[in-house]
Amino acid sequence: MDKKRILDKLKLRLTDIEHLGAALALLDWDMSVNMPPKASETRAKIVATLSSLAHTQFTDPEIGKLLFSLKRFEKQGMLDAKESAIYREVNRSYVKELKLPDAFVNELARTTSEAHGIWVQARKSSNFKLFSPQLSKIVELKRRQADYLGWKESPYDALLEDFEPGLTSEEVSSKFHHLKEFLTDYVKKISNSKVRISTSKLKGVFDVATEKEFNRFVASKVGFDFEAGRMDESAHPFSTSFGPGDARITTRYKEDDVLYSLGSTIHEVGHALYEQGLKSEYHGTPLGTSVSLGIHESQSRLWENLVGKSFPFWKYFYPNLQKFFTKPFNNLQLEEFYNIINLVKPSLIRTEADEVTYNLHIVIRFEIEKELIDGSIEVKDLPKIWNSKYKEYLGVKIPDDATGVLQDVHWSAGLFGYFPTYTLGNLYSAQFYNKAKQDMPNLEKLFSKGKFQPFLSWLRTNIHEHGKLFTAAELCQRVTGEGLNPEHYMRYITGKYNKIYKI
Ligand code: CO
Repeated sequence: MDKKRILDKLKLRLTDIEHLGAALALLDWDMSVNMPPKASETRAKIVATLSSLAHTQFTDPEIGKLLFSLKRFEKQGMLDAKESAIYREVNRSYVKELKLPDAFVNELARTTSEAHGIWVQARKSSNFKLFSPQLSKIVELKRRQADYLGWKESPYDALLEDFEPGLTSEEVSSKFHHLKEFLTDYVKKISNSKVRISTSKLKGVFDVATEKEFNRFVASKVGFDFEAGRMDESAHPFSTSFGPGDARITTRYKEDDVLYSLGSTIHEVGHALYEQGLKSEYHGTPLGTSVSLGIHESQSRLWENLVGKSFPFWKYFYPNLQKFFTKPFNNLQLEEFYNIINLVKPSLIRTEADEVTYNLHIVIRFEIEKELIDGSIEVKDLPKIWNSKYKEYLGVKIPDDATGVLQDVHWSAGLFGYFPTYTLGNLYSAQFYNKAKQDMPNLEKLFSKGKFQPFLSWLRTNIHEHGKLFTAAELCQRVTGEGLNPEHYMRYITGKYNKIYKI
């Protein structure tokens, strides 16, 4: 068979599998947005059947044969950069999937799907013991998964590979350690600052329908295409995509906090802009999907924090916010508003944390899940360990499990190795933003005039459009001229907060 026929055959197969993946993603979206509570068990079975079907299709020996033929062309240097990336990525996933027995994939899908409902109940009643048996089962399955996949230094490495290919826990540990030292020290500097910021001026009762309207206004202004996506509500905001033309985001609203939803909305919009920026002609191949979770998260963090919590951004949006909600904003100056939304205060809930303390929440989760997977700690001790780390790193006391160890959905879904990608995203975001400003010195001036398209175009050209053509490390090098360097993030934090807190 010639090269073109092999590639065409492979693309055809991959597109079918991609469609199954999209159906699973849609069921997952529905589970968080629409599904009635009693549907949990049935849904778990449906998800298990489809997951197993996707697994069987992807591990079909025919795909192995096609990859084997491509390998010959690759060795002879006959694949161009795009073909080569397709081979590299499909082969990597194929080899990995082949290592997981069908029965295992089925069991993991069924267990995590069932666990979701139990986690919701446990969190509602703040009862870790209710969730503990399910979590123990999931941890045991994830350890087995790591063993099937193979690992050298730590079983956690095998799980990290799912979200951030090529990265080891050793590298994460060293980058996080440096960051943890900087942040714990910097948080102290902020708490010793004479500047006192109070959120009391943002208090009020807000009409949720108007909040929704404002969120939609901001989302579309920065570039979210509502003709190619939807915005709904869920307990835990997230974004997902079912292919070209259908990128979904969710958010959540509070009647007494008008800005509660906005951070999440802009964050998820950042994810969706990446999905909407992938090239539809590559759909079904790795070139039509995002690089890694870390790079995906860099996009959401860019919009949420570096853009969405910046002064120029609010110079444009604040007069609009004042129009939507005259009270209390007509009596509040932009400068003061800007300081309030950038308040730094150690807190309990990760998703509500400010951008300075946020990464400490992640360091805690990374340290815990790594030790859970390598067996140095046990599930039953989690609340105790969680609470003591919060005391040590953030100086906060956890009142109950609902606001402590039960707050995140991730572990119930079997997502071990996912948390570090949030902080990696923060680190990448500052590095990309730094380069964008070098390329476009008037960038922030444009923001203050409500012009976000030039920045989005920069992201599209430099990052979105390539899909998986480059690895995360290659992309970072290509866009910024160096590997991932946490210094950019630390410089960004000090540059911004030294001013706010007069440090
Ligand atoms: Co995100």
